[in-house]
Amino acid sequence: MEKCDTTMNASEQIMHKEKAVLCHTYGRYPVSVVRAEGSRMYTPEGREYVDLLAGIAVTALGHCNPEIARTIADQARKLVHVSNLFYQDEQADLAAALLETCNADKVFFCNSGAEANEAAIKLARRYMNKVAKRDAYEVITLESSFHGRTLATLTATGQAKVKDGFAPLPEGFVTVPFNDLEALRKAIGPKTAAIMVEVVQGEGGVRPLPQEFAQGIQKLCRENDILLIVDEIQTGLCRTGKFWAHQHYDLTPDIITSAKALANGLPMGAMMTTDKVAKGFEPGSHATTFGGTALVSAAALKTIQIMKRDRLDERAHKMGQDATALFETLAAAHPEAITEIRGCGLMIGIVLSFPGQEIWQALLDAGFICNLTQGNVLRLLPALTIDFADLEAFAETLGNILSARKTA
Ligand SMILES: Cc1ncc(COP(=O)(O)O)c(C=O)c1O
Repeated sequence: MEKCDTTMNASEQIMHKEKAVLCHTYGRYPVSVVRAEGSRMYTPEGREYVDLLAGIAVTALGHCNPEIARTIADQARKLVHVSNLFYQDEQADLAAALLETCNADKVFFCNSGAEANEAAIKLARRYMNKVAKRDAYEVITLESSFHGRTLATLTATGQAKVKDGFAPLPEGFVTVPFNDLEALRKAIGPKTAAIMVEVVQGEGGVRPLPQEFAQGIQKLCRENDILLIVDEIQTGLCRTGKFWAHQHYDLTPDIITSAKALANGLPMGAMMTTDKVAKGFEPGSHATTFGGTALVSAAALKTIQIMKRDRLDERAHKMGQDATALFETLAAAHPEAITEIRGCGLMIGIVLSFPGQEIWQALLDAGFICNLTQGNVLRLLPALTIDFADLEAFAETLGNILSARKTA
């Protein structure tokens, strides 16, 4: 490895060091982070950033939450990992706590969002094959959806850029336009096993499904005896103002997938389903070494307990409403720049009328971390514990940046 130039500061040294040794799969932000707490992140030089992204909807209870840190430390001294060959209290307690939050009866634990969706796709196929005894394997998804980066989940994803260079892709996936019930109806055939949707598309630009469309999807699933899979990997766990986003739509999915905020930063995914559909799996049909390991399960259980105790669903709902009002005022002052404020709870998209890279960079320079998705949507996914003052400071800074742009 090349030696670091001693004229570089500590942040630059980290950047330089990793260039030589990591696969270049990420478009990194030009920030090195050595410490984080609540809704703040710090560089080695001590620069502070206000974090409105929370590790992409992961650290919902804030960075290095003291209760989670204590739980992890205690559990690390007791039991970390023995594999899924053994019964473990932590896993069963977590499953019970999760199942209390939704209409599902059984859980499969894994390590990421893509893996949770992979499990959902496998279960849908195997349920059709072994239980329903139908030759049905196709999964229908929506344009601009995002479901992960494994071969199956990137094929399910309704965005061409994630598929580039990976052909041949697995068979059995069909993508239809967003909010086009007729196209969905036409896409359903004897081979269809499931429809999989995010009820608020995240990577796709923070786009909630219209109520009627969501209801229509469920109706089509019931009429055609196919499964409804709801991908709650980004939307789940109180982010949108209810424990699960599909609860805004009164949906009863056959399969729900979760990850991201589940263990407040430790890697964990979950696929939840009904007793009926769970019969599609039997011992040996699906597995993962690390899934639901005691350490991560203990952290996830604590995360859910805190979310319930502190009513973070209600907090996200109220703060989401206040933040939306704040950003709508900003949009009214800058109609040339902001075309729409959309989202649900603390999943907020500020839609710009032009490519937003410069605005995103100016926000970063001013000390605010957010994400730019689809080229023109500033996506905010802050910790559910964030102070409203941080959102107000962000709005004020964005307003100043937009005013400066107007006069430039
Ligand atoms: C809706 C949705 N599904 C699936 C995934 C994939 O999750 P992971 O990156 O943990 O594999 C993501 C990640 O952003 C997501 O937002």
